[in-house]
Amino acid sequence: MLASEDRAGQAWSKAHGYGGYTSYASLSDLPTRASVFGELKRQLDGHARAFARDLAFDLGQGRLKLDSLWVNVLKPGAGHSGHIHPHSVISGAVYVRTPPGASALKLEDPRLPLMMAAPPRRADAPEALQSFVYLAPAPGTVLMWESWLRHEVPANAAKSERISISFNYGWR
Ligand SMILES: [Fe+2]
Repeated sequence: MLASEDRAGQAWSKAHGYGGYTSYASLSDLPTRASVFGELKRQLDGHARAFARDLAFDLGQGRLKLDSLWVNVLKPGAGHSGHIHPHSVISGAVYVRTPPGASALKLEDPRLPLMMAAPPRRADAPEALQSFVYLAPAPGTVLMWESWLRHEVPANAAKSERISISFNYGWR
């Protein structure tokens, strides 16, 4: 419904070469626009609090606040090249539709620019030593990471759309 009715989002996606539809730049009010997104925000807030505890964040008098939440409908063959989420603390995604072959999330070791002469890792290296980690989500999966962590959505090899909802938390 969003993808078909949000003309501004369609135009932005087209202008920026997004292979499908994203509400990233066009709809900033999803949690109040539809109760299903409001309920999602409530659940994500709890996950973000738990994640902040696991990360031993000292938030002082501040707290984590959901700054943005947006929908991504990724067409077959489309991807999203490596990026970080500036101005945020925790970023993540909830996966709605992951047909067979749907892109995994590719996470990149942030130390790569410091490893000019380092040998490559063996294929059987423990996950924590691998340069890239691929997480294959299922519908309902929630992934969160610190916003400085570079990540990528490789080309969607599924025959149909991969649907996810991304979000950023700031520290206030
Ligand atoms: Fe991202």
